[in-house]
Amino acid sequence: MDKLIVHGGTTLKGSINISGAKNASLPILAAALLTADDVIIRRVPDVSDTNYMIQILSALGAEVERSSGTVRINAANIISDAPYELVRKMRASICVMGPLLARLGKAKVSLPGGCVIGDRPVDLHLKGLRAIGAVIDMEGGNMDMSAPDGLTGDEVDLRGKHGPTVLGTDNLMMAAVLAKGTTIIESAACEPEVVDLADFLNSMGAKIEGAGTRRITIQGVEKLHGVEHTIIPDRIEAGTYMVAGAMAGCRENGITLNRVNQEHLEPVTEKLIEAGHQVKFNDAGNSVTVKPGSEPKGCSITTAPHPNFPTDMQAQFSSLFAVTPGISIIEDTIFPQRFMHCAEMTRMGADMQVDNGKAVITGVEQLSAAPVMASDLRASAALVLSALTAKGSTEISRLYHIDRGYEHIDEKLLQLGANVERVRE
Ligand code: EPU
Repeated sequence: MDKLIVHGGTTLKGSINISGAKNASLPILAAALLTADDVIIRRVPDVSDTNYMIQILSALGAEVERSSGTVRINAANIISDAPYELVRKMRASICVMGPLLARLGKAKVSLPGGCVIGDRPVDLHLKGLRAIGAVIDMEGGNMDMSAPDGLTGDEVDLRGKHGPTVLGTDNLMMAAVLAKGTTIIESAACEPEVVDLADFLNSMGAKIEGAGTRRITIQGVEKLHGVEHTIIPDRIEAGTYMVAGAMAGCRENGITLNRVNQEHLEPVTEKLIEAGHQVKFNDAGNSVTVKPGSEPKGCSITTAPHPNFPTDMQAQFSSLFAVTPGISIIEDTIFPQRFMHCAEMTRMGADMQVDNGKAVITGVEQLSAAPVMASDLRASAALVLSALTAKGSTEISRLYHIDRGYEHIDEKLLQLGANVERVRE
């Protein structure tokens, strides 16, 4: 198991490229199961979650070749049972359900287990698939589904108690593309990753309209064909490095992130500016420079579905606010239990009170190094950010959490001038 040692206090400068989005790659890799033709997907980040998805596709019988960021998949001969040993490693494995059901008329996938960021049920996924004709039995920890009469489009509202569901929308969209008739998803998730999946499916011959809005209409087609597609930039990776620029960037030139999408980064940009930092995009909107402001101040964040502030960025802002003068409040309405990072940051000297889905953070002058443990992907990113400006050398263990979603984080940080070392525990 690797750990990361971050020697705090260096100033970040220079530029890096942002990788393709993990959360767009996962359902798009799964969607390759929808055709017997070759599919080529570019800019798939080299992170362990995409590796798990590739292993699942291989176990299902697909032929997969990966060379740097490009993945070529041929799913001409596939089976319907996803192996528990692989599925249990990653919740996003459930996005093979929709494609398997659509292509083979059946699917057997394990029910995902507990998750450290909170309760993550699958009721909305099942509601969506049942609405278009899936019959689902729960047995031995598996979701065993079939479509005895084929899949037939219908209208379904996917709103849950915490709002829309991203992967639930993806699953239904992927199942409905090959269903008879028209499916309408009301209260659909409108995250950029859902739009990327819809674009991918449409290039394969699907007929999807309205992706990026709360109402998606899918007119079923007989068959999908092969395609080449490039994954959108990872807005959460970009947002994480933007926070790094605000916390530890050089005052004069800041740090520059290339291969970003300005529109996807609006909520993060808005909050960094409100907190007193400087964020400047180039005219094309695909490169951004972030510099620390001279008078940073605390502010409030409430996470909510896109286009609002993303839950996947709140831990990183907790790090920023930990060392920002004044009081900041972070409320997570999507995953109210997602505050594991706060306990670890408190060990580094942060002043954070967490209660009832909300963290009240009183900025301190500086954090100090302590051995800390990564608990989930974004919490780990938050610990790395805290360690960059902390006094001393912070050891972050369980680095595999961060390797799930940040491509070559140690190399990118070194490129920006940080003093970090990856060591074997
Ligand atoms: N929910 C239900 N029932 C369901 C599905 C979801 O009640 O059947 C609830 C969830 O418990 C949560 C809310 O609905 O309160 C939203 O969850 P959603 O289904 O949208 O989450 P997800 O699709 O499983 C994706 C990302 C997460 C990100 C969330 C929210 C991927 C692979 N994962 O998960 O990303 O936090 O959307 O934006 O796309 C991460 O990258 O660190 C990560 C956790």
